[in-house]
Amino acid sequence: MTDDILQARGLSRAFRLPRRALFERRRTTTALHPTDLEVRRGSAVGIIGESGSGKSTLARLLLGLDTPTTGSVEVAGRDVDASARARRLHWLRRMTGIVLQDPYGSLDPRMSVGRIVGEPLWALGVTGDRRARVREVLVQVGLSAEAADRFPHEFSGGQRQRIALARAIVHRPALLVGDEPLSALDVTVRAQILEVLRGLVRDDGMTLLLVSHDLGVVQNLCDEALVMTEGRIVERGSTRDVLQHPHHAYTKRLLAAIPTL
Ligand SMILES: Nc1ncnc2c1ncn2[C@@H]1O[C@H](COP(=O)(O)OP(=O)(O)OP(=O)(O)O)[C@@H](O)[C@H]1O
Ligand SMILES: [Mg+2]
Repeated sequence: MTDDILQARGLSRAFRLPRRALFERRRTTTALHPTDLEVRRGSAVGIIGESGSGKSTLARLLLGLDTPTTGSVEVAGRDVDASARARRLHWLRRMTGIVLQDPYGSLDPRMSVGRIVGEPLWALGVTGDRRARVREVLVQVGLSAEAADRFPHEFSGGQRQRIALARAIVHRPALLVGDEPLSALDVTVRAQILEVLRGLVRDDGMTLLLVSHDLGVVQNLCDEALVMTEGRIVERGSTRDVLQHPHHAYTKRLLAAIPTL
């Protein structure tokens, strides 16, 4: 057994673009060029890079939410076949949690927050006191246990983002992939959620893969950082090295663009 919880080989994704004219050849755009990636069990890896650089595309492919054009992904040594029917990816759902970039889209407005957050427990057949676990995790992300009885529209953007996070961690996944999971939070709540995530990595051995525009978040939480631009990982190293001694021109520009306080 390897130390890597996640392994991608030659992973790429091209999208077809709509034809501009009837007889035009179909054009494609490459969101992700063939990419290799390993993530060690128990590590926290940040993915940074400009808008449109392929971060969300990569995150979705890694969790089997999208089918690669080429290449393969293994989670804990098992092949992720995104074309397999949902039931066959049960093991993957059990091991992983994801916070999507658009948390509103992923919260069913007709379901109570308790049902939304608890859904993975029921869907995956996790045993134990599931209602108590839902309440516990709501409190953990800084909401009240009573939030379980309310509906998504009754919450602010930052609160909904925490509902999405609660749902992603309720079944104690071994690997959490967060796509901008803290972007709607104010500084105090963000600090609290950073502490929750840090605790999951440090105390529970969870592996974290975090996409973020916020270099402060990556610096705070991640021991390794990846920099993406134009569908490629152009730099990878310890967060400290990447942020303090960037090699790639893009990373240098990215860092230079941060206003200094
Ligand atoms: N379903 C799709 N169809 C066509 N093109 C797509 C699709 N999804 C993504 N793309 C394209 O792939 C590229 C990468 O998109 P992606 O969402 O991965 O970027 P990102 O790094 O997550 O950006 P952001 O920081 O803005 O979230 C973009 O050029 C985007 O337009
Ligand atoms: Mg994105």
